[in-house]
Amino acid sequence: MPFMIATDLDDTLVGPSAGDREALVKLNQRLAASEVTLVYATGRSLLSAMALIEQAQLLTPAVLISSVGTEIYRTLDPPEPDRKWWEILSPGWDLEHIDKIAARFPALVRQSEQEQGPFKRSFFLKPEAALLMTELKEALYEAGLAVRLIYSSDRDLDILPARGAKGLAVQYLQAQLGFTNKNTVVCGDSGNDQNLFETGNMGIAVGNARQELISWIETQSGLNIYRAGATRAAGIEEGLRYWKLI
Ligand code: GLC
Ligand code: MG
Repeated sequence: MPFMIATDLDDTLVGPSAGDREALVKLNQRLAASEVTLVYATGRSLLSAMALIEQAQLLTPAVLISSVGTEIYRTLDPPEPDRKWWEILSPGWDLEHIDKIAARFPALVRQSEQEQGPFKRSFFLKPEAALLMTELKEALYEAGLAVRLIYSSDRDLDILPARGAKGLAVQYLQAQLGFTNKNTVVCGDSGNDQNLFETGNMGIAVGNARQELISWIETQSGLNIYRAGATRAAGIEEGLRYWKLI
């Protein structure tokens, strides 16, 4: 059956060990042989995602969703962002205003310029200071900004448009390409993947999923999330079998 797979990259499809590498090669063979619309949904910027695709010898995706769902590239040669998506993200998004408000919180340490995007402001934030997010959120809402905050890996704080996140980008693609939750599977390991699982699509949480994601999954009922025992690419393969897609 033709299906769409939208998968996170770091620590979901790709991992550091030789075993991860082996499992990835095997999974790639499976995916290349099936009728698959392959979508990567990563927190990385376009450049950083492309570097990983090359370095880890990943398959060329049909679509790349980068910058935590705020950029969509249907072609990488040359990369051309979907500007209609940006129109959807625009209402209530004002970078200058966000920067001004964020500057009032010294615990927010701005990530590199490469990881900033037209619809993404990213910071490092220590877990012991994470409570400030409530205050930050209030300040942003009071200013009339339509944003969402995502804290993940006990380290990364992303400020995104309210309508921008990985899962929302996947749903936008599904509508355009004619995929439903009967033939779409999403895979992830960490907090910025939660929105992927909120789509109601078939889900695969890999065996190495972080506690932040597991804690959330445990509060959910009625979502189709398979928690794989195996880690990373091997976990994806296990999940694809569970969902009878391969
Ligand atoms: C990736 C991005 C980073 C972001 C993080 C969490 O690591 O490079 O900017 O904060 O994902 O979404
Ligand atoms: Mg990840």
